[in-house]
Amino acid sequence: MIVLGIESSCDETAAAVYSSEKGLLSNIIASQSVHEQFGGVVPELASRAHQQSIWQTVEQSLKEADCSIEDVDTVAVTQGPGLLGSLLVGFSFAKGLALSHNKKLVGVNHMDAHIYANWIDNQPQFPVLSLTVSGGHTQIMLVRDYFDHELLGQTRDDASGEAFDKIGNMLGLDYPAGPKMDKQAQQGNPKFVQFPVSHLPGTYEFSFSGLKTAVLYHLRDQKEINPNYVEENRDDLCASVSEAITKALIKKLDLAIKEFRPTSVVLAGGVSANSMLREKATQLCKKRRIPLYIPHISYCTDNAAMIAITGYLKAKQGLYDGFEMKPFARL
Ligand code: KG4
Ligand code: ZN
Repeated sequence: MIVLGIESSCDETAAAVYSSEKGLLSNIIASQSVHEQFGGVVPELASRAHQQSIWQTVEQSLKEADCSIEDVDTVAVTQGPGLLGSLLVGFSFAKGLALSHNKKLVGVNHMDAHIYANWIDNQPQFPVLSLTVSGGHTQIMLVRDYFDHELLGQTRDDASGEAFDKIGNMLGLDYPAGPKMDKQAQQGNPKFVQFPVSHLPGTYEFSFSGLKTAVLYHLRDQKEINPNYVEENRDDLCASVSEAITKALIKKLDLAIKEFRPTSVVLAGGVSANSMLREKATQLCKKRRIPLYIPHISYCTDNAAMIAITGYLKAKQGLYDGFEMKPFARL
């Protein structure tokens, strides 16, 4: 089976081809630089940019996979969550393509796809515990079998990626600040400042808004003493913030491992690219003697390879969709 995956939920226009026999054949991403000057994604601009690049992106993914649309069996497309205008571009394109070439259609939940990105190179055994961490979501999910998911808990306010981006911005880093914060943190001291993290005992929930406020007040106070405080200590501050965020994530992951005793653990979503989180999760799973899977760095942030593999896994189970399928902005 050959699946063409299309992703357009936020600010990446992406297309990929997955073959059940040969694995991933192509993975093309057109990133939108237009948002950088605004410090975040502007929905209207994102939809327009998707519209401009979707055809070329899909064409390139087929070309790189050395196949034509006629070789494709199924078109898989992100159904949500995401920006509705952006989703509609990929959605309409996928429907048009499937309809005109008589292909089957599968709608894919973007958050499921982040989890199943772990199936591109590996075969994690169920039950799987997933720490799904992205720009819009932070969740602990128990995956009992394919598409049998139980949400154990999620963030009450900001997502972990959002926390990296917003606090990174306070530290003078451009959007998206997460990857830049990661790079700076690698040269810094994580114990430079001990920022507080809320633990919300008895739940698998997270909260990062208090951390954001704590950093804001810390910087305000320190800058009064030394106006160059951020510039002089950026690496250490990035390391300290990363320490607080990853510590909160790992603490709940460990709690869930102890309670649910999964066969494997996976990390998923853009923040799973974070080196401190990868390191801490590796240490934890080693200690708990449980196999850990983390997607290859290129499948952590938004991509269409994860849509194509999830589309394949759904199609294998006969979970196709009709042309009446609608996109959704929220989970
Ligand atoms: O999964 P993703 O690409 O998009 C969503 O579905 O939201 O995640 C994007 C988020 C952004 O907040 C970005 O700053 C964060 O993932 N991110 C990182 C790293 N790479 C991406 N955060 C921390 N460290 C990284 N290396
Ligand atoms: Zn995502």
